[in-house]
Order: sequence, then structure tokens, then C-alpha cells
Amino acid sequence: MPNPSVTRRQFVQSAAASAAGLVLANSTRGQETAVASADDLRVAIIGPGSQGRNLVNNCLKIPGVRFAAVCDIWPYHQKYCANLLKKYDQEVNVYTDYREMLAKEKDLDAVIVATPDWVHAEQTVACLKAGLHVYCEKEMSNTIEGARQMVQAARETGKLLQIGHQRRSNPRYWHAIKLIEKDKVLGRITHFYGQWNRGKRYEIGWPDGQEMSEADLKKFGYDTMERFRNWRWYKKFSGGALADLGSHQIDVFNWLLKSPPKAVLAAGGIDYYKTSEWYDNVMAIYEYEVGGNTVRGVYQVLNTTSHGNFYEVLMGDEGSIEMSEDTRRGQLLREPEAKRREWEDMSEKIETMGRDAIELKIGETLAPDGSKDPEGQRLLEESKKPVHQLHLENFFAAVRGQGQLTCPPEIGFETCVSVLLANDAVASGQRLSFKPEMFKA
Ligand SMILES: NC(=O)c1ccc[n+]([C@@H]2O[C@H](COP(=O)([O-])OP(=O)(O)OC[C@H]3O[C@@H](n4cnc5c(N)ncnc54)[C@H](O)[C@@H]3O)[C@@H](O)[C@H]2O)c1
Repeated sequence: MPNPSVTRRQFVQSAAASAAGLVLANSTRGQETAVASADDLRVAIIGPGSQGRNLVNNCLKIPGVRFAAVCDIWPYHQKYCANLLKKYDQEVNVYTDYREMLAKEKDLDAVIVATPDWVHAEQTVACLKAGLHVYCEKEMSNTIEGARQMVQAARETGKLLQIGHQRRSNPRYWHAIKLIEKDKVLGRITHFYGQWNRGKRYEIGWPDGQEMSEADLKKFGYDTMERFRNWRWYKKFSGGALADLGSHQIDVFNWLLKSPPKAVLAAGGIDYYKTSEWYDNVMAIYEYEVGGNTVRGVYQVLNTTSHGNFYEVLMGDEGSIEMSEDTRRGQLLREPEAKRREWEDMSEKIETMGRDAIELKIGETLAPDGSKDPEGQRLLEESKKPVHQLHLENFFAAVRGQGQLTCPPEIGFETCVSVLLANDAVASGQRLSFKPEMFKA
């Protein structure tokens, strides 16, 4: 039972300190026992734009999470989000400047940062230093220095920082990992492929009469309404398409190959949208070292065609596995000569490239003897929830001291470095090597 003399925030925080201990157990902090709390967590969101509102909607499905404040520099989005929360009986204080919010809101537990990438570092560091746990959207930052400051602030404050690479909490990926690591369905991994092909992009606009004044835009670093809304395409605000879309998938390769890359070679250009500052297409070749062997892979992001959409493939000498956040994709293709696993004959097949592939179905192909093992059933149940909800649930559970973050800042940092150096490779036209010290924050 909590001590009644301890305030609600202190109580939730003491639980969180345990979680920080768990997350940082590999560094210097000691491991403490996790403490659970039935108290509501009081949460604020900075930047309830398109993704921010998606996160808010997902939080509304998580018991024990309650919004206390909304911050956005655009009054249109402030009102939209505050009105949405009101429908769920969550009255919030509304702020334009996050600094004012941090000065006035003294009873918050956590903040969700869903602003454009260029302000992630400043806002996340300030929230951590204000004693709050943070869920910050990817890309962690559009500069390596910004991302490094975020890791350091989390370490110094002992607060939790979850980065929004939600595949890390996705049961479909955990299922694939089980097949790769326990059932060893790929044999020796030699290559990989990933893509995010997105159809033509259209400029994001704003409703008539809702534009911000030039003075207000300038105050927050945006020169025009067009740039404010289409920030992804400008170097000041974003790391470009590789950071925006590719970071999710390059994170998957780092995760599954258990190491960041060794080198990258890339080409790209502003070939279609002449007003963009960022490349609209990038094709990169990454090299990893896995178990003393080179693993080479191709990753591409296109913004003119949706051919094949988005997915990742890991290839080995006994099989290949295709994964995606898109639940319509996902399959395992075994090499004809590979030794069959007992459960393979029982698994549902789909025809791919003239061969039988096994559909990547959680809970069905999981157990080596064909039985429905409990871990598979747990993953199957979880997979019914939206992916962002799962990643947020992981964050809030860690805040309560119940488990570890699936995407702590050290991981987000590795991904950030892996992605941003590929942009440099495009610019220089050179094959660039990653030095181990580049991944130290
Ligand atoms: N994990 C995912 O699947 C996923 C998907 C989409 C976007 N994202 C990430 O979410 C973030 C937001 O992307 P989006 O598409 O929602 O962009 P958006 O432009 O729709 O939303 C950004 C919001 O931040 C506000 N804002 C801008 N500068 C601000 C500041 N200094 N202080 C407070 N508010 C500010 C804007 O008014 C807007 O409401 C980005 O980091 C993006 O990479 C993640």
C-alpha cells in the first residue's frame, strides 16, 4: 500500500524510478523492484497534429491514462484536441508554448511529444529535466547532436524516454523473431531488403481562415504556413524521407541483426518535387557484420509510386521472412533444400513466386510441434490491438514500474545515426563507414 503522506505524483514516480532502474540496468543504475499503482497517470501532449491525435485516440483506450494539458502553437489544433478530449470527459488546460506548460503544470507524470522532428530534442530534454517521463515520436531528432542530448538527459534525470518506433512493441515482429531465433528458419542470414514506396505526395494545406499570423509563425521558427504544414520536406525541420519513413524499417534491421550497420552507400535526389529540399527518392545499400559475416541489404524510399507499399525482408540460406506493419503482408518462404520443421506441413500456405510460402500468422505457426503454445496465444491476443496503442501501453506500464521500454533512447539514437549518415552518403556520393564511437551517446 502506498504511504498516505506521499503525494500522488511522488508515488507514481517512485514506481517509475524502479522502471528507470530496469531500463538502465545495463548501464550504471541498480535494478529495483517494480511497484504498481492504480492511480491515473496525468499526461500532456505537445503537438497534437496528425500523429499526435492518433496517439491521443490510442491513449483513450488505455485505462488509467488521463490528459491534463494540451500544447500546440497552432490554435486550430489546440481546439481540435481539447474538444476531442472533452468528449471523453477529459478537461484539459491549453497552452501555446511548452515552457509555459511546464512552468504551470506541476502534477504531470508524462508528456507525449509529437511535434515535427526539429523540436523533439529541445522539448524532450526540457520535459525530462522537469521530472517527467516522455514518449517522443520518431525520428528522435533531425540532428545526431539533438538525439545525443536526449539520451544524456534521460540518463541524467533517470526518467523514461520511449521513442516512437512502434514496431518494437508489435507482436507480429516478436513472432518473426521467435521463428528466426528459436526455430532458426532462415539458417545463416546473408541479405535483407526493405522498402517504403508511397504514391505521389500532395501539399498539406489548412482550412480557410485558420492560418497563423506571420509573426506567430516566425516566433516559433517557421517562415511560412506552407513550410509549417509541409515541414517533412525542408532540411531545417526534418531528416527527409529516410528519417521519416525509413527510420522505422532501418530500426527493424538494427533490431533483428542485433547491431547497427558498418557502412552505407546511397543515391537519391530531388527529381520529382522541385520545391522540396529533401530527396524524394533514396536507394541505400547497408552493410552489417553478423557473427563475423557480412550481411548486405538494400533499402529504398520512394514518393512517386506505391508499388509494393512497405515491408521488410530478411533472407538466409535456409529461408526468407517478409514482415510488415501492414497486417495483410507477412510470410515465410523456406528454401527447397532446407530441413523442414515439423509444423511446416500443418501451416497454412500461400503461393508466392510459384512456390508455397507459409503465411506469417501469429499463434498458428509458432510452436515447433504444431501446438498452440501460450506465448503464441498471448501474442495473438495482443496483435488485435492497434500498433500505437501497444507501444504506448509499453511506455505507461514502464512508467508504473511494470516492465521495460521496448524502445529506450539508446535504441532511438542508434537508429538516428544509422539513418542520418545515409543522407550524408547521398550528399557525398561516397560509401561511408560507421565508427563504433558514432553510436555512443
Ligand atoms: N510513429 C509513427 O507511425 C508516426 C506516424 C506519423 C508521424 N510520426 C511523427 O510524429 C511527429 C508529428 O508528425 P505529424 O505528421 O503529426 O505532423 P503534423 O504537422 O500533422 O503535426 C505536428 C503538430 O505539432 C505542432 N507544432 C509544430 N511546432 C510546434 C512547437 N514548437 N510547439 C508545439 N507544437 C508545435 C503543429 O501545430 C502540429 O499540430 C513527427 O515527428 C513524425 O515523424 C510518427
